Amino acid sequence: MKILVTGGAGFIGSHVVDMLIEYDYDVIIVDNFCTGKKVIVHPQVRLIKMDINSPHMEEVFGREQPDVVIHMAAQVNVTKSMLHPEADAEQNILGTIRLLGYCHKYHVQKLIFSSSCAVYGETKDCSITETFPIQPLSFYGLSKYASERYIHLYCTLYQIPFTILRYANVYGPRQTSLGEGGVIATFFGKVLSGESPIIYGTGEQTRDYVYVKDIAKANVLAITEGTNEIVNIGSNRKTSVNELLKMMMSLTSIDSAVIRKPSRVGDIQHSRLDNTKAATILSWYPSYELLDGLWETFNYYKEI
Ligand SMILES: NC(=O)c1ccc[n+]([C@@H]2O[C@H](COP(=O)([O-])OP(=O)(O)OC[C@H]3O[C@@H](n4cnc5c(N)ncnc54)[C@H](O)[C@@H]3O)[C@@H](O)[C@H]2O)c1
Repeated sequence: MKILVTGGAGFIGSHVVDMLIEYDYDVIIVDNFCTGKKVIVHPQVRLIKMDINSPHMEEVFGREQPDVVIHMAAQVNVTKSMLHPEADAEQNILGTIRLLGYCHKYHVQKLIFSSSCAVYGETKDCSITETFPIQPLSFYGLSKYASERYIHLYCTLYQIPFTILRYANVYGPRQTSLGEGGVIATFFGKVLSGESPIIYGTGEQTRDYVYVKDIAKANVLAITEGTNEIVNIGSNRKTSVNELLKMMMSLTSIDSAVIRKPSRVGDIQHSRLDNTKAATILSWYPSYELLDGLWETFNYYKEI
């Protein structure tokens, strides 16, 4: 089975690609390298350097005839989306619509879409199910939700099967500080280079951290399961930024002073995803405890 991964040279995409290769899929990547890197891509994979909005994308679909598309390419920076909502929409909404057009024309059997907990916006300190109200607080969250709706309608009108995966805050090796959930990458970067980590707001805001290899597994499972479903992929555990920093300092045995700054626009207070549906329909469970994932991540940053 041939799988086209958009954004496969990125943080999460490169782990998804590694796992697809492990499972013997035939994989092609399309990536424009705006944040992705060639060095993290599995050497066995064909890499096409192209923007998903390029008119040449149609040739890629025509020539390669992928069976499944895993669509991960996106503008992933929440702050940038607040400064340039139109650029965010161009990449995330129009990019997705263009891909849907090619999926329709070239009879793709399934589209797997990387969505985000950012679609839910502010919630109480509780576990969020997929039926929670959608109220994004950032243009990034809104562009992910708009893409979800286009995927739904394309499925209704043209029968393109899909699975939408709404990730919690993803972390792990190869992450940079630029992306959506980059707090762990940023903290490790600062602490290892002897700088002070920055906490925005009180630090009591909580997040649901999920390890990148668990995200890769969810994508692989979605190739055959969870058709036409929206599924949360998170640990359903909450950790405050203050707690997280304490864990990371104890792992690294470095005790740095913290710089505190005001909260940023678009930041949410609490986010924790219920993962019952993922367990039921994808047989997906997070296999990494936060401390184990942090340990693997720390060892990665120490060595690069
Ligand atoms: N990191 C998280 O915590 C998180 C959480 C929820 C959802 N997501 C989603 O997961 C996906 C992957 O995110 P990531 O954290 O790995 O980010 P990333 O920036 O590391 O990866 C994105 C990849 O897409 C490529 N890309 C971006 N725009 C492109 C375009 N127009 N054409 C071709 N390639 C393009 C980049 O070069 C990069 O390789 C994104 O869709 C993101 O919205 C991430």
